[in-house]
Amino acid sequence: KKKLNEFPPNFLWGGATAATQCEGAWNVAGKGDSILDHCTNGDKNHPRLITNEIDTSRYFYPSHYGCKQYEYYEEDIKLFAEAGFKIYRLSINWSRIYPNGDDDLPNFEGLEYYRKVFEKCLSFGIEPVVTMTHYDMPWNLALKYGGWKNRKLIDLFVKYAKTIITEYKGLVKRWLTFNEINFGTVSYGEYVTSGIIPKKGCIIMDDSEATLDEVNDRFQALHHELVASAKVVKLAHSIDPSISVGCMVCGFAYYPISCKPEDIAQAQRDMEIWNYYCMDVMCKGKYPYWAERYWDDHHIKLTIVDEDFKDFKEGIVDFVSFSYYRTDCSQANQQKLTEKTNFGLKNPLLDATQWGWTIDPDGLRWLLNEFYNRYEKPLIIVENGIGAYDQKEEDEAIHDFERIEYLKKHIKAMKEAIRDGVDLIGYTCWSAIDIVSASTGEFKKRYGLIYVDADDYGHGSYKRYKKDSFFWYKKVIESNGEIL
Ligand code: BG6
Repeated sequence: KKKLNEFPPNFLWGGATAATQCEGAWNVAGKGDSILDHCTNGDKNHPRLITNEIDTSRYFYPSHYGCKQYEYYEEDIKLFAEAGFKIYRLSINWSRIYPNGDDDLPNFEGLEYYRKVFEKCLSFGIEPVVTMTHYDMPWNLALKYGGWKNRKLIDLFVKYAKTIITEYKGLVKRWLTFNEINFGTVSYGEYVTSGIIPKKGCIIMDDSEATLDEVNDRFQALHHELVASAKVVKLAHSIDPSISVGCMVCGFAYYPISCKPEDIAQAQRDMEIWNYYCMDVMCKGKYPYWAERYWDDHHIKLTIVDEDFKDFKEGIVDFVSFSYYRTDCSQANQQKLTEKTNFGLKNPLLDATQWGWTIDPDGLRWLLNEFYNRYEKPLIIVENGIGAYDQKEEDEAIHDFERIEYLKKHIKAMKEAIRDGVDLIGYTCWSAIDIVSASTGEFKKRYGLIYVDADDYGHGSYKRYKKDSFFWYKKVIESNGEIL
């Protein structure tokens, strides 16, 4: 590979969204309920509740509105084209295609909707990069089957994947199977990635109270997801060999909180369980060598059949994609040296966003090198951005200086990684347009390049306005990352 000092000429610049956070239109055109349609809004101090019945007289359910992209998709894609996007990463809402997840036949209207979306993208020269499931599954699968705990989900997901890969053959060339599959090991992912309805009835971040059974269920569910993902990679290649399929993980970077050897060992273990437990399966076709000891130490007993190992070997992904927002610290005996985060300890040396997420562009360069060193596969950063309060001025301008600074520093770090020799082929910022926050359900935690006039309760005109970051990013793309 030739050494590059700049972004490669065909670098895939773009933006990303997820169906349950942007579409709205949750119960139209034959769509079934998705697990996210049963989640209320929350904020950084109040978890999102999961209600069995949808009770709009008592609760607000943000996915029912999103940013109404189901209605506005033509306008949105036109704006993405104006920004110069080469790719648009979006997800298909599984329950638009199979409303209950176990239906015999797919829902024609759902299939038609995404066909129109993909055709619209392609008409502007934007390639859709599609996630098959982004924090999403038909509610019925969670309720009736217990989500991914149940091995039957493998066949149901493969059927869904076969339907969409076949239907969109020629339109979609790059697929991602599961969004942030690696959250499956912790409480946050229990519901959003694995569809296991938590006993507490809400999405929790804190892992301290998980029982052994709950932990076992999570790892079993994750095993099924990994098998399903591998099967789908194989299937996609058999349907169309020119398709490439990537894994998608939340990129975790852990620094030891001190130079004590045990803190360094802890950081290594955190990197292993958070990133490589899943990535090794998807990129190397096997669980990491330390997995058995990990299962023993944590009293995890998995049901694995021989065929699963074969699927892992035969279903290795073509590229690696990941999200990157922040970094955390590791400490062997968490003695409260510093504030706790949802995923570790807060780095006292770094600035943080208003939601407490540390800002660490150097960590991105480090992680890109780590991932490339380990797997030597092309990389795409499919999410990176800052959740912030934005203010629309009287003249309708949105001066989101903080977002521009955040993105600029991270793009610079990407360029350094490319100079290091990392094969980074694309970048989609999070998010292309303002959408609902996944963890808190707020709308005011905005990530977009495009402002949407809506509040946390679905009030507003839903009109779109270009933020300063939109104009800035357009120049970045036009100059292929030279003008930052
Ligand atoms: C990623 C998810 O973890 O982070 C997205 O894939 C999510 O769905 C993004 O929106 C930002 O997190 P949040 O909770 O602020 O929306």
